[in-house]
Amino acid sequence: MSLLIRNADIVNARKRFTADILCEDGVILAIGEGLAAPEGFEVIDATGKLVFPGFIDPHVHIYLPFMGTFSKDDYVSGSKAALMGGTTTLIEMCCPARSDDPLEAIKLWKSKAAGISSCDYTFHMGVTRFDESTTAALKTIVEDEGIQSFKVFLAYKGAFGIEDTELYQTLSLAKELGVVVTAHCENADLVSETQKKLVAEGKTGPEWHEPSRPITVEAEGCHHLMTFAEITGAEVYVVHTSCIPAVEAIVAARKRGVKASIETVAPYLTLDCSYAELPDFEGAKYVMSPPIRAKEHGDFLWKCLADGTVDTVGTDHAPFDFATQKHMGHPEEGKAVDASFAPTGKAANFTLIPNGLPSVEERVKLLFSEGVVTGRIDLHTFVRTCSTRSAEIFGLYPRKGVIALGSDADLVIWDPLWKGTISAATHSMATDYSAFEGREITGRAEVVTVRGKVMVRDGRWCGETGWGEFLHRKPNP
Ligand code: URP
Ligand code: ZN
Ligand code: ZN
Repeated sequence: MSLLIRNADIVNARKRFTADILCEDGVILAIGEGLAAPEGFEVIDATGKLVFPGFIDPHVHIYLPFMGTFSKDDYVSGSKAALMGGTTTLIEMCCPARSDDPLEAIKLWKSKAAGISSCDYTFHMGVTRFDESTTAALKTIVEDEGIQSFKVFLAYKGAFGIEDTELYQTLSLAKELGVVVTAHCENADLVSETQKKLVAEGKTGPEWHEPSRPITVEAEGCHHLMTFAEITGAEVYVVHTSCIPAVEAIVAARKRGVKASIETVAPYLTLDCSYAELPDFEGAKYVMSPPIRAKEHGDFLWKCLADGTVDTVGTDHAPFDFATQKHMGHPEEGKAVDASFAPTGKAANFTLIPNGLPSVEERVKLLFSEGVVTGRIDLHTFVRTCSTRSAEIFGLYPRKGVIALGSDADLVIWDPLWKGTISAATHSMATDYSAFEGREITGRAEVVTVRGKVMVRDGRWCGETGWGEFLHRKPNP
């Protein structure tokens, strides 16, 4: 736990410099040239490597009851996979059902991580209902449970989705409390009507998922949220933004004074909608919402990262097995389990494929390999979008998101020249497939520390299950 990293080529969001980093009691104690190693300190020589602040994934699902099933990882596999990929902090969506009590829900989600998470973690509190008891419950969750951000769904009608009055009430309360509201923006009615129409026309395979939730439907969701944010004055954060018109709707609102951040996720940058057209139902592996779009949208998102329009890159890690869970939406084999996600009735079709991709392990290496190595983004943009901005927006900065005196010693020693291939056969996530099978990668996390403890060494797991801590966050002033 007492660690000296020598000759570190340190890359923060704004600065790059070479120095030694001395870590003790979980934090960075000194940064400077030629630091002496006190007795008993482990010394790691980082010559030839880059050293980044621990990466933060601002959008994951580890425990997710969804579409009649449960996401595949738990905190043992999910946090290990995160760390193997260089992610040292997870922000998970706490997603209660509409009928659940919010306080019990946050306690349940916390209990799923406590004692078994290897990396640090916190939660966005899902507001899936707003009634007379909600204000008091959310105040307690913010003040006593250490939560600084809410999550609302404009999609998933009849399940997590909320009505406009509830959206207004949530945003008004968030403004009062200094809480950021993260939002899934798709117009739920347009989605369910388009789904019904396509299925009635016999269009039942995974390739119809994208046309059922077109870019206009996402843009409408973004515009809708922006209008509510403008009127209430709340700070908002749009999760998993996938396409040009969605970004444009948010940028237009920023010009009107709306405080809005934009997240995109690794699958939108590194895959395209042709994957959902793969034969033999393979396309189901790529079904997520909003859907993975045509390549021009991915290209646009890369540019938006480079010019600072998009703030963060998360994953929306939502892992489901292909053989069993994704097959729930197979037109011949599947059976509807949860009718609230099946607006088209009981016959199986793409509307019943559990939405989501496993990617918590791959985000950072994909961004480095397909962003930095190709010259689409520079190293500072990489650090800013994969770590620093999430810390700033979600009340973790400067404890997380930067290599600085007093910050947590969450460090990633990165080998920029390593070459390898992504495969489900070697990944640490619990799913039976990888959405990036066979993808060739340059660069990997060689050493990863969480509060000074080495969890990954030489690219191999050496961590301690349960080392992770819940991060208590305070509302923005
Ligand atoms: O397809 C997705 N995104 N699944 C996870 C739930 C959500 O909407 O974030
Ligand atoms: Zn979502
Ligand atoms: Zn999500």
